Order: sequence, then structure tokens, then C-alpha cells
Amino acid sequence: MTSGGDAPGMNAAIRAVTRTAIYNKLHIIGIKRGYAGLIENEIEPLSLKRVGGIINRGGTTLLTSRSKEFMTPEGRKKAYTNLKKHDIDGLIVIGGDGSMHGANALETEFSVPTLTIPGTIDNDMYGSDYSIGFFTAVETAMDAIDKIRDTATSHERLFVIEVMGHHCGNIALITSIAGGAEGVFIPEEKTFDLETLLALLQEGKNRGKLSSIVITAEGAYKAAELQDMLKDHAYFRVRAVTLGHVQRGGVPNAFDRLIASILGKAAVDYMIGGKHGGFVGLDKMNPIFTPYSEALTHKKSIDEQLIALQEILAI
Ligand code: F6P
Repeated sequence: MTSGGDAPGMNAAIRAVTRTAIYNKLHIIGIKRGYAGLIENEIEPLSLKRVGGIINRGGTTLLTSRSKEFMTPEGRKKAYTNLKKHDIDGLIVIGGDGSMHGANALETEFSVPTLTIPGTIDNDMYGSDYSIGFFTAVETAMDAIDKIRDTATSHERLFVIEVMGHHCGNIALITSIAGGAEGVFIPEEKTFDLETLLALLQEGKNRGKLSSIVITAEGAYKAAELQDMLKDHAYFRVRAVTLGHVQRGGVPNAFDRLIASILGKAAVDYMIGGKHGGFVGLDKMNPIFTPYSEALTHKKSIDEQLIALQEILAI
């Protein structure tokens, strides 16, 4: 099943899980629309043919949702009943934190063997260096920034660009480094206080800089909010852009296809080996298992070295 916000590379993970299962002579079915579909008993047989030609497709061909009903004991009971109906021995969930909480509930309340693979553009899951979809989302945001930079320079403007990430600034941080932004705001730590940012922008302007880009994660500041804060100190005319869901779609890049393939196979291997009740992540590109008890109670920390790098390169 895929669950929560879609992420580019989810299809590659569905393909890897399916093909590894069939390679090992297992019977495999897909659950549609995440936990909502499980409650409604929406299933689909998966075959080699069914997962052919999907590795390069964005979104998820199993569809996805954020299910409110699954949050209730009645909803979870219905989900469990359907799992039993189809004689399902193990469930692999491709999704983010919320989806992992759901898998943990099925494991602890009904003893259903589950594993969770990180599928989220946020890259905010403890127990994995990367999550499926993150680098494609970063590339989409970086592409947009490159284009906005052209306009910013031609019009000598400052652009404030809001990227996704309510609780996690990974997209903002990596995008700001890759896009050469002058400043970045993230929820974990406001890398720049406003005074420092204003001083930096002024210095750049004095040196003849024609434009500036400031990235903000949605959980730090909204673009419009930051535009408001900056406009009275306008060394440049300030424009605000919110990139929004464009970051979630698109063709998955090679890296996301690769890690989806590694993680999908690893999850099936763990399940066959009787290892479940946890998160299947990547540690320097090697699969690593973290029990839910640990994965759900620890927070992935932001890379301080990257924050320092961004600050140095933004001068
Ligand atoms: O978790 C992925 C994510 O795209 C977040 O970055 C964002 O805050 C959220 O989902 C948006 O959720 P929705 O698509 O439900 O509006």
C-alpha cells in the first residue's frame, strides 16, 4: 500500500516489492487508496505485468489518501477484518510518519506483521538517510528557483520562495544550497535572524548584486509573511512565490528510483526472514531495520554541517 502524501518513486517501490515477492514465489496484492482503501476493501492483484512501465511514473498507481477513519478504533477494526478476509500475512506500507503510525497500530493492536518504507518528499523520518521522492522534489524546487532567478535578476528584485516542509526544513536547506539562495528559513532552527539576513542582502546590493533569493520552509514562515516583514527594508522590490504541490509530482529521478528499488526489495527480504514491526531505511545506501518503538519516538535531526555550508556560501 502507498499512503499519505504521494512522492515520486512510490511506483518504483511498488514495482520492487511486487517483483521481489513474485521472485520469491509469494502471492502479492495491492491495497488501493492507502488506509481508506483498506477500510473500504479496495484491493488489486499485483503481477509482473501490472508493475511494468511504472518505474518512470510520478505519483502512485495504487493511489493514496490520508484517512481520518483509520484514526478511530472502529476504522482500524474494519481494516483488520479486510486484511484477514484476504488472508494477508504481511503488509508493506510505503509512506511517511503518519503512515508508519498506522502500520504500528495494526502491528500492536492486531498482531499484523508490517513494515514501513520511507516514501515522502520531506525526508524527515528517523532511521533513514533518505526517503523516496525527496531528491526529485528538491530538483523540482531547484528548477523553479533557477527560472525565478532569471526574472529576479532582470527586474533587480528579491524573491521569497516557499517550499514544502511543515516540521522539517530538509527541502528548504538542500534547495537553498543547490539553488544558490542568499538565505533560508527552516522550522528546526531559523538559520538567519532577520537582522542578519537584511545586513547580508544590503551587502550584496552594495557589491552590485542584481537579485536575491530567500527560501523558506512552509513551517518556518509563509512566503507572504516574509514578504511583509522584508518589504519595509526593501533594498530590492520583494515578490513572494509559493511552490506548493508542484514539488510532489513529476518523473522520479534516478536516485529515487534506485533507493525505491533497494528499499522495496529489502522490505520483502525482511518480511520473508520474519523481521517486521519496524521501519526499513537506508544507512549509507545499505538497508537498515529500525523497530517502530525507536523509529516513532526519535526525531531525525537536521544536518548542522549543511546549515553551516549554506551560511558560508550565501555571503
Ligand atoms: O508530507 C508531504 C507534504 O507534501 C508536506 O511537505 C506538506 O506539508 C504536506 O504533505 C501537504 O499535505 P497535503 O497534500 O495533504 O496538503
